[in-house]
Amino acid sequence: MVTTPLLPSDYLDLVSPLRAGADLRGRIEAVHPETGDAATIVIRPGRGWRGHTAGQYVRIGVDVDGVRLWRAYSLTSPTNRQDGRITITVKAIPDGKVSSHLVRRVKPGTLIQLDQATGDFVLPEAKPAKVLYLTAGSGITPVMGMLRDTEFDDVVMVHSAPQPHDVIFRDELHGLVADKKLSLTELHTDTDGMLDIARLDELVPDWAERETWACGPAGLLDAAEKHWSEHGVPERLHVERFRPSIVAAGDGGEVTFSTTGKTVDADGTTPLLDVGEEAGVLMPSGCRMGICFGCVTPLKAGAVRDLRTGEITEAEPGVLIQTCVSAAAGPCDIER
Ligand SMILES: Cc1cc2nc3c(=O)[nH]c(=O)nc-3n(C[C@H](O)[C@H](O)[C@H](O)COP(=O)(O)OP(=O)(O)OC[C@H]3O[C@@H](n4cnc5c(N)ncnc54)[C@H](O)[C@@H]3O)c2cc1C
Ligand code: FES
Repeated sequence: MVTTPLLPSDYLDLVSPLRAGADLRGRIEAVHPETGDAATIVIRPGRGWRGHTAGQYVRIGVDVDGVRLWRAYSLTSPTNRQDGRITITVKAIPDGKVSSHLVRRVKPGTLIQLDQATGDFVLPEAKPAKVLYLTAGSGITPVMGMLRDTEFDDVVMVHSAPQPHDVIFRDELHGLVADKKLSLTELHTDTDGMLDIARLDELVPDWAERETWACGPAGLLDAAEKHWSEHGVPERLHVERFRPSIVAAGDGGEVTFSTTGKTVDADGTTPLLDVGEEAGVLMPSGCRMGICFGCVTPLKAGAVRDLRTGEITEAEPGVLIQTCVSAAAGPCDIER
């Protein structure tokens, strides 16, 4: 009664936002530039943080221009960091709302929302004899979490970035090479071109015998999945994607967000999450690629297409859709 309309916990949040029992939050304690467009964000997680396994990611909720936006970022800190802090390393993409904010504007002291770490892009309990890390651009982040956490007797990395100064963690990688803990092939795509996956035979002759973790742009990962399958060793390849692979498109339609009272035209390729955000509708989200279910929303009327499979879902009572991987398939009504 005394604190209405706020709850007592809202007042406690003001003085002790990272306390046990509060919604999980983190406080940004430092931002370290890594390259011209990437930075490592050091976060002190609240008391409820349950730790992570190397290679996993965390969803964070950040306020950008007064709107809470959720994105996923791989953890780059080792699991046994003594000071209890965790790090993510973010590459600012052009027009990227959250990545640009984190790399260029966020200030130490900022509170963010955190989810527990999750993801199955992790190392197995039994150490493989030979490891290959195949990465490009910001795809190095989950692998850096693994490199900082676990040593192997025989680990090879093939990493691509436009130019030497774009290679995130370059000094640390070269330090591992100098200590004979890593064998590294660094490719510069501005001069060498994109990695042709067939070149692996020359770069890493025993690639097919290696347990491989790959993370990077869709083109690299699609080529790797095809290559490993064609050589009969798909089970040796573990892939982490930062964006969904969109294979199916069709006609769009008029989308109504009935709770907000907005109606907009949408094409058949743009996820309804983007359509809603663009229209100013408050849309929940997380990974934005179909894995976390942070965006599920009731479909009240009409039909939507799953952009990954082409499957059509029609409205029925209780039907939920993942707006980040669903596009309009004709007129539809989304309960937002
Ligand atoms: C499991 C997982 C782990 C991830 N780990 C990392 C990480 O460690 N470091 C990191 O920097 N990012 C990581 N990401 C990507 C991150 O979640 C965001 O997608 C990225 O930062 C862009 O968000 P934004 O708000 O800046 O862009 P938005 O404002 O959402 O998008 C701006 C524009 O860029 C396009 N776009 C969106 N994402 C990308 C992308 N990844 N590459 C190219 N274009 C894009 C959009 O289609 C849009 O046109 C991860 C994603 C997943 C799913
Ligand atoms: S935002 Fe993660 S599944 Fe849609």
